[in-house]
Amino acid sequence: MKQGPLILGIESSCDETAAALYGDCGLLAHAVHSQIALHADYGGVVPELASRDHIRKLIPLIDTVMTQAGAPHVTGIAYTRGPGLIGALMVGATVAAGLGMSLGVPVLGVHHMEGHLLSPMLEDEAPQFPFVALLVSGGHTLLVEVRGVGRYRLLGQSLDDAVGEAFDKTAKILGLGYPGGPALAALAQRGDGTQFDFPRPMLKKPGLDFSFSGLKTAVMLAVKAGGAGEHADLAASFERAVIDTLVAKCRRALTATGCHRLVVAGGVGGNQRLRAALAEQGRQDGFALHFPRHAFCTDNAAMIAHVGWLRAAEMRPGIAAADARARWPLTELEPPTATPAPATTA
Ligand code: KG4
Ligand code: ZN
Repeated sequence: MKQGPLILGIESSCDETAAALYGDCGLLAHAVHSQIALHADYGGVVPELASRDHIRKLIPLIDTVMTQAGAPHVTGIAYTRGPGLIGALMVGATVAAGLGMSLGVPVLGVHHMEGHLLSPMLEDEAPQFPFVALLVSGGHTLLVEVRGVGRYRLLGQSLDDAVGEAFDKTAKILGLGYPGGPALAALAQRGDGTQFDFPRPMLKKPGLDFSFSGLKTAVMLAVKAGGAGEHADLAASFERAVIDTLVAKCRRALTATGCHRLVVAGGVGGNQRLRAALAEQGRQDGFALHFPRHAFCTDNAAMIAHVGWLRAAEMRPGIAAADARARWPLTELEPPTATPAPATTA
């Protein structure tokens, strides 16, 4: 009997190193190493340190998932080709190209945001096409209409800071450590979100684009005016303004496309109050809401192996030169040349 595709996924675009195995039966194994401790002293990701740590951790992580899955026969390798930090991407690209040649299996460079976009499909209750996806990470804020794999229409995006970036910068203003998003969310839990009336950026104008840099400045001015006592209230009010804005734009996007399903992915998708607000809105408006589990909101290789499996027909023999793209618009992607049968288990 012919073996179906069994894909080794590799992720190294920023500050997480990850490996995973995905095949016709779904996800077989995944492992992540976070570089948070490495970058914490610097208050942000140091690209050169990130690249060096990917070199140290990637092969042991691949060994780990191979052992976890009982050393299966890998038929292809998918790695994150971009977008991301170029040095970090090159580590994954080089390992993928080298492994592909030595194992004699084909390789595919995957788009990181396509990985995030389709990550809710790793769960038991996978969303059906079409859906609207809200992608909220450290580098991107995108609203995308998804009609199928590779059939993406950009509806809106941030004109300045990405949502995760706004969380991180605001956290810095409030004196919180790196990564700022989860720290700010934890502080916000103790605060009163009605204390500061921060702007809901771009809600008065029509359209689906976002802007978050003014919100960060509003927090900075409030800190200067008010002293240190109300930081939890500032955090809660900032978070509330972001969530109100995201929820309103998602509703607009669902109306504009006529879709009844919303998918939320990317690191900020792990925010509990964002999840709760969208779930409540979904109950009121009658749209279905899909999230990946928390571990698959942030960077991981399960989502990369999954895209590799969906696009297995596009894999090409391992090449000597590693191929990576720091910038790569999602809308350049096309549908896969052939689609494999759906997984039977997640
Ligand atoms: O998707 P991701 O892991 O990496 C990128 O591809 O950027 O997203 C990381 C971003 C960071 O900006 C981080 O602060 C933010 O997601 N983040 C959060 C939360 N968890 C992570 N922001 C708000 N609330 C959270 N709970
Ligand atoms: Zn990401």
